[in-house]
This record gives sequence, structure tokens and C-alpha cells, in this order.
Amino acid sequence: MSLKIGRNDDCWCGSGLKYKKCHYNFDMKIESFAREGHEVPTHDLIKTPEEIEAIKESAKVNIAVLDYVAEHIREGITTEEIDQWVYNETVKRGAIPATLDYEGFPKSVCTSLNDEVCHGIPSDKVVLKDGDIINVDCSTILHGYFSDSSRMFCIGNVSEEKRRLVEITKQSLEVGLKEVKPWGFLGDMGQAINDFAKENGYSVVREIGGHGVGIEFHEEPWVSYVSKRGTEMLMVPGMMFTIEPMINMGKADIYEDEDNGWTIYTRDGKPSAQWEIQILITETGYEIISY
Ligand code: MF3
Ligand code: CO
Repeated sequence: MSLKIGRNDDCWCGSGLKYKKCHYNFDMKIESFAREGHEVPTHDLIKTPEEIEAIKESAKVNIAVLDYVAEHIREGITTEEIDQWVYNETVKRGAIPATLDYEGFPKSVCTSLNDEVCHGIPSDKVVLKDGDIINVDCSTILHGYFSDSSRMFCIGNVSEEKRRLVEITKQSLEVGLKEVKPWGFLGDMGQAINDFAKENGYSVVREIGGHGVGIEFHEEPWVSYVSKRGTEMLMVPGMMFTIEPMINMGKADIYEDEDNGWTIYTRDGKPSAQWEIQILITETGYEIISY
């Protein structure tokens, strides 16, 4: 990749510095991993400092909207009301919900209850009831920059076993983050999350994963939680992606709603939980951008 740029040319990152003083060593290091057969990021996945600042502004809105949901969510409301909160709280901050009209998705947020794994569609017919667990997945576009995160909420008196699923899924992010560092592999993180889920008696959804995010809603790489240590894409400073494992109380198998073409359910009808954060790989580790 570096061969196309001369050492005295301007760096590809737009810093205005000469390539040899900027990303030359960085590219050489990436190239050495590529030569060993590893999957490595292309330049367009490396965010510039300006892009990172703009994405962080988007994430401020994303976090504020989820904070609003956290304060107001309760038994007796409909998921349609959550959709309205997300729409209103997003646009009043000058942003747009990223899911609205995304590939035909009809709403401003995903609301996934109990055995719904993800991509639940808000509806005035779905009323939150005592004992439900729900994932609210919120994604935001501000000035063209994307942020994406989701949280779980327990409604009223939630059974001990469902609470534990929600808690372990949240903890799995911490477990995965311990493996996130520059020049490591996404599979290090994926395997750590998978091992942790299994140790706790749960299974991890295979078909749906996280994704690069920031300039587009869904960028490379695809982020699996059934991957193996030392495999998948090399993590390098400037990459941004989500960590969003879906952990099932029962078996890993899932199916898609035939009628709406979106919502994913557990095959065995047992509950599923998911938390999602957006992170940036830095020179020394990572930074959490949205949560
Ligand atoms: N935040 C979700 C994700 O990226 C959005 C999925 S697209 C949707 O994982 F249309 F289903 F919302
Ligand atoms: Co996402």
C-alpha cells in the first residue's frame, strides 16, 4: 500500500506532513502483519483527528438520547413512545436518528424485548410490562457523522435469571475490552467475550455482529463474538467500531421475523440481551466514544 506514495509526498491522512514523517512507519507495520497473512484495515478505516472530534460530537447526542430513555422508561409505556422520545431528543440537538429509513427500517430506534435478539420495531401495540427486559439501540447522525450504542433496561420486578443475563452481558464488554489494544486482533476480543458467555452458561449469537462506524453507519470490519484469538482484523490506532454481543440464555440459534423482515428472535424463545459501545483504538489502548 505504501509503495504508491513517495516518502517525500504528502501523507494520505491529510495532515499536510510528509509521508515519511507521518504514517510511513505505521503503514510498514501494517504491511508486515499483512505479509504474515493477517487481515488489516485499509486507510479509509483510519479516522483523522478532525473526524474523531466530529464523531465525538455525534456521540454526545447519542449518549444524551439514551440517558433520556434511561430516565423515562417504565412499566406501562409503549415502545412507540420510546421511538418518539428518541426522535424528539435527537432532532432537538440538531441530529437525525440513523435507523430512520435506513434500508427501509421504519423507526428512529430499535426496541428488542425478551426473546427478541435485536432490530425490534417500536409499536403502539407493545406495552412494557413488569418483568420485561428490553434493549434500546440508538444510532445518531450529526453533521454526517455516525454514533451507535445500546443499553438494556429491566422493567419492574425482573426475575433473578433474566437480571443475571443482563448483568453478565454487560460484564462481557469489560471482558472484551481487556483484549482491545493497538496491534492486537479483533478475534482476541471476540474469543474473550465468547468464553466468558459460555463459562456463565450462555451462548453467543453467531450471525450478527458489530461493525466499523463513524463516516458511515456500517463500515468494515464486521465484528464477531464467535471468533478466535489471533484471527480477524488487526486493530490499529484510528479505527473505530462497535462491540455489541448478543448473548442468549438458551441456545444460539435465531430466526428473522417473516412479516416485518427485521426483527430477530431466539429460536428457543428464551431471553437474549445486548449492550453496545462504540470505541476508538488509540496509540495506547482504546477510548469509549459512545455507550
Ligand atoms: N444499531 C443497529 C446496529 O447497527 C442498527 C441496525 S439497522 C436497523 O447494529 F435498521 F435495524 F436499525
Ligand atoms: Co451497531
